[in-house]
Amino acid sequence: MSDIIRLENIEKSYGTHQVLFGIDAEVSEGETFAVIGPNGAGKTTLFKVMTGEAPCNGGRVIFRGEDVTAIPAHRRARAGMGRTFQVARVFLELTVLENVVVAVEARHKNEGRRDVPWYAFKPAQSVVAEAMELLAHFELEAKRDAEASELSHGDRKRLELAITLAGKPKVLMLDEPTAGMSPSDRAGVVEVIKRIREENRITIIMTEHDMSVIFGLADRILVMNQGARLALGSIEEVRNSPVVREVYLGKESQHD
Ligand SMILES: Nc1ncnc2c1ncn2[C@@H]1O[C@H](COP(=O)(O)OP(=O)(O)OP(=O)(O)O)[C@@H](O)[C@H]1O
Ligand SMILES: [Mg+2]
Repeated sequence: MSDIIRLENIEKSYGTHQVLFGIDAEVSEGETFAVIGPNGAGKTTLFKVMTGEAPCNGGRVIFRGEDVTAIPAHRRARAGMGRTFQVARVFLELTVLENVVVAVEARHKNEGRRDVPWYAFKPAQSVVAEAMELLAHFELEAKRDAEASELSHGDRKRLELAITLAGKPKVLMLDEPTAGMSPSDRAGVVEVIKRIREENRITIIMTEHDMSVIFGLADRILVMNQGARLALGSIEEVRNSPVVREVYLGKESQHD
């Protein structure tokens, strides 16, 4: 399998505060890659370095064979990096359907399709149909006319996923997709992610604090601690790593 993203010796500081220390990692095409670690370990910062939201101070980011270290975030997004956020980002004043329509139209515009200008007062039927298909996928059809601000936390996260997938990303980056959810909503999100993965054969990079979510989804895991790479490997390798057990999984693995 070829690498879709490769991180080489990534260093990142905010002012004088260094938060990433020489991170090396590679994500294979089609795999589900999890980044775990305690609060403040640098997971979200590593995401931002990958997407370009926070440029690194040292090292290189290679995306699909191209050095994108100096490429701004919006161009990386167009090239196929789709990301959700630890706190869901949707247009709160728009309806559920309008949110997805805007995302589908933005993609059409990026693809150079002139039939559906993003500023059109009335979206083309094909755009609405595509948006409805996405809503159906996430069981949000019945809520199509609700304002996004009225949605429950779980529905809002699902809407954000629908919006992100409307861009047809090559790699789907999920920063804590189940943050703040009830156990049943959490299980629902795991099922949705599995479905997305099967139907789109997409590469997924995710951070998550819930180990049952990680163990249910990840092919490989990068374990971070205080900005450094602690371990990288399969679930088994990571679970059996003495350094990981000691620093991170220690308490949890005693319950096995
Ligand atoms: N914009 C910023 N400016 C200054 N420091 C920051 C900024 N963003 C993050 N940090 C610091 O960088 C470190 C890593 O933060 P980051 O958000 O990447 O951790 P995380 O692993 O995602 O944590 P969590 O599990 O709580 O989401 C922390 O010490 C944090 O305080
Ligand atoms: Mg974070």
